Order: sequence, then structure tokens, then C-alpha cells
Amino acid sequence: MIPFELSWRGGATEARLHRVRPGIDALPWGTIELSRYPDAHGLEARKVWSNGVFTEYASAAAFSALTTAMLQCGAPVDLVAMCADIVVDELFHVELSARLTMELGGAVPLGFDLAAIAPVTTPGIRPLLRAAEIAVTTSCVSESLSVPAMARSKALAEAPLVAGVLARLLADEGPHARLGFWFLDWANEELTDAERAHLARLAADTIEVYAPLWAEGDAACGTCPLPAGLGGHDAVGRAKLRTAVDVAIATPLARYGIEIDRGRLAAIASP
Ligand SMILES: [Fe+2]
Ligand SMILES: [Fe+2]
Repeated sequence: MIPFELSWRGGATEARLHRVRPGIDALPWGTIELSRYPDAHGLEARKVWSNGVFTEYASAAAFSALTTAMLQCGAPVDLVAMCADIVVDELFHVELSARLTMELGGAVPLGFDLAAIAPVTTPGIRPLLRAAEIAVTTSCVSESLSVPAMARSKALAEAPLVAGVLARLLADEGPHARLGFWFLDWANEELTDAERAHLARLAADTIEVYAPLWAEGDAACGTCPLPAGLGGHDAVGRAKLRTAVDVAIATPLARYGIEIDRGRLAAIASP
């Protein structure tokens, strides 16, 4: 496995990014007192945030692929522009999360082949359906789940820097979760019933991947370090995620005729 590492150029490219995404220097860097937390919490926080850096990076790749697919199916230009702009949001989130990870003591090693970072879509499908697949998996499902997860982490965050970074990430995630539904507003009439059924199965498959986030098992063991004050979350957060599966994903998707099997959904979203 190839270790996941970031590189940074600095200079004119950094200045350009910070011109369009200002405010990073106003965050309270250098204020985390790691000695206030048990060692196990510090390590768990490094794991949570190292993984966070990677998921932000993967989100940039996903919205980038969605931008291309939307261009290939002639989606509304302003909607495509929003999608391309979200790629920059996610790259800024990579920077914020990576800097926070460094303040927590540095990243834990993660292995991932970046050649496989782009979202996988069904081979041979037309551009409209390919865009719909990525819109559903990336925006309607993944981003809709990151909103309640981050909101709970922020509510629990004790360190001002962690709260500040989470507030900044969270401010962007709402629109990221809207984009997929706005794409469906435009694309839905063109989709066939069979394609909607396919998208519903795909949505359920994607939700299932996230199920460990709301499973009570591990986290309820009482000995697992939960770095709540440093960016982790808790039983309330897990319940909010289960609610979001219905309220923020399944119910709005059903309005487009993308109806996830209710029995399967109940099984996936159970504690
Ligand atoms: Fe993000
Ligand atoms: Fe996002």
C-alpha cells in the first residue's frame, strides 16, 4: 500500500487559494493543550483527523469527477460552476484538516493508492446517469451524512481551534449536500424508471458503507477512547446520523422517484 501524503507548493498558488477562501490565519492555531487530554484521546483524535484529511481529499476527487460528468451531459452551467467551486472548498478543507492534524501531533499513516481515488461508476452508462450516480453517492448521501456528524462533533468540541475548524467545514457542507438534489431537479425528467430504481439501490449501497458510524457496538464498550472534545462524536451523534438517513436522504430522494427499499433501509439504519 502506498502511504497517503500531501504536498504543498506555497507562494502564488497558496496566495490564490487564500484569496478565494480567506480566514485560515484568523483561526486560533497553537492553542490546543494536548496535556489536558488522556494520551489515548490524543491518539484517537489524530486518527479521526488523519482520516478526515483523506475524506476531504477524496471529496475533492468526487466533485471533480461530478463536474466532468455534468459537463458531458450538458447540465446547467451555473450548477456545474457550483460543483467545480465545491472542489476548491474540499481542497481548502484538506488544508484546514491537515493543519489541525499537525497541531494534534501529526498524521497517523494511512495507505491508499491515489490512482483509485476517483469515484467508480457503472461501466458503459450514459453521461446523464453517470452524473446522477456520482450526485447521489457523493452529494445526496455522503455530504448529507457529514452535516450531522460534523455538527455533533462541533457541539462537543472543547478546544477552540477544533471548534473553529469544524465551524468552517460545516458552513460549506450544507450546500455540498444540496447540489445533488439540485442536479436531480434538472435531470429527473430524463431518467427512466429503471434508472431511478438503479439509483435507489446505489444510494442504499452507499448508506450501508457508512453504517459503522452509527453502530453502537465499539463506541459503547466504555473503554474505547472517544476524543469528543477534539473532534469525535458520541451516542447522540450516532442517533442523529440514523435520523439523517431517513430525513436528509431517503425521504428527499423519494420525491424524485428514487425510492430506497424501506425494509433494507430500516436494517441499515438500525443501531
Ligand atoms: Fe469537506
Ligand atoms: Fe463536502
